[in-house]
Amino acid sequence: MSAAGLERVDPALVPSVLLANGASIPAIGMGTFGSDSVSADTVAAAVKDAAIMGYRHFDCAAVYGNEAHIGKALKGLMEGGLKRDELFITSKLWNDKHDEGDVVPAFEASLQALGLDYLDLYLIHWPFPNHHAPGVDVSARAGNAQPYLHEAYMKIWRKLESLVDAGLIRSIGTSNMSMAKLELLLRDARIKPAVNEMELHPHFQQPELCAYLRAHSIQPIAYSPLGSPGRPERDRTPEDSVDIEDPVIKAIAGRRGEHPAAVCLRWAIQRGQLPIPFSVSGRNLLSNLKAAVSASLSPEDMAAIEGIDRGCRLIKGQVFLWKEGQSWEDLWDMDGIIRS
Ligand SMILES: NC(=O)c1ccc[n+]([C@@H]2O[C@H](COP(=O)([O-])OP(=O)(O)OC[C@H]3O[C@@H](n4cnc5c(N)ncnc54)[C@H](OP(=O)(O)O)[C@@H]3O)[C@@H](O)[C@H]2O)c1
Repeated sequence: MSAAGLERVDPALVPSVLLANGASIPAIGMGTFGSDSVSADTVAAAVKDAAIMGYRHFDCAAVYGNEAHIGKALKGLMEGGLKRDELFITSKLWNDKHDEGDVVPAFEASLQALGLDYLDLYLIHWPFPNHHAPGVDVSARAGNAQPYLHEAYMKIWRKLESLVDAGLIRSIGTSNMSMAKLELLLRDARIKPAVNEMELHPHFQQPELCAYLRAHSIQPIAYSPLGSPGRPERDRTPEDSVDIEDPVIKAIAGRRGEHPAAVCLRWAIQRGQLPIPFSVSGRNLLSNLKAAVSASLSPEDMAAIEGIDRGCRLIKGQVFLWKEGQSWEDLWDMDGIIRS
């Protein structure tokens, strides 16, 4: 129990993973996207509680609109004795800052809002420069929407590399990338991506992309690891399935006396992907962190979960499309061809 009355998991017991560049990252993090429904203050209060409970890895982003609030929480924690080098803090470049001249100022704004003097990880949030206002319908399109343009992406990547050179970022990475796009980046990058943050949960396992990442020493970070039950209405379609209601997950959870969410997280960690579940509930935050130190799933349980993959992508990204008549599949290069 901590001084704040919160039950704790010793962070030293939480496994960590070494990235290809030698940096160490805790095997579970806390997501900080309030899905347009949880206020910035509430998320920041949850970050504070989470750190007291033993979380050390926080997945932030400029577009979540709460970095300054989280920065205040981190400041309070560090004044209370938590050291900067015990934390692993990620932020992300949003799609409206893809112009070459906007990258460094956007990074500096996140760094300043978070009250830090370096970031552990900085990601390009989406490979498209297509911006949409928070909360808009999935049919909304940016006026100047564009497809993936590799030359433009590399101009941003070069800026990230320069921020690594300047000692302001420890690791850089991608998010929502396909194999086809990563292939080009790996060909042209001076500093290779250390991670790719991507949607991963039992009903959406992306085995080919995960194998590709492993083969290239890129660490997958698993977003929406519980199947994002709180995601905004605009990100729901009738064919979506619910991981934590899957009979296989529920049966394993029942046998272990755990919530199905804990099984999703245990599976993720054992599969070698780093889950970043979001929660603002103290009980859920603790249960999620405990999943990182709980007993291993048996090979039979792991195989049973492998068998429930439905290829069910929840965050389809429709708002990033760039012309009429497209479908969300055009964003993901499923046949290996980058759409233009
Ligand atoms: N890179 C990207 O493009 C991208 C995209 C999406 C998300 N992300 C990151 O990934 C993080 C996680 O994704 P997500 O928020 O979409 O989905 P998620 O973590 O799969 O699900 C979060 C939801 O699950 C509930 N929950 C959490 N723990 C639970 C538990 N133990 N039992 C039952 N319910 C539980 C939460 O509600 P309570 O608050 O009530 O617990 C919340 O509604 C985000 O916060 C963000 O940092 C990144």
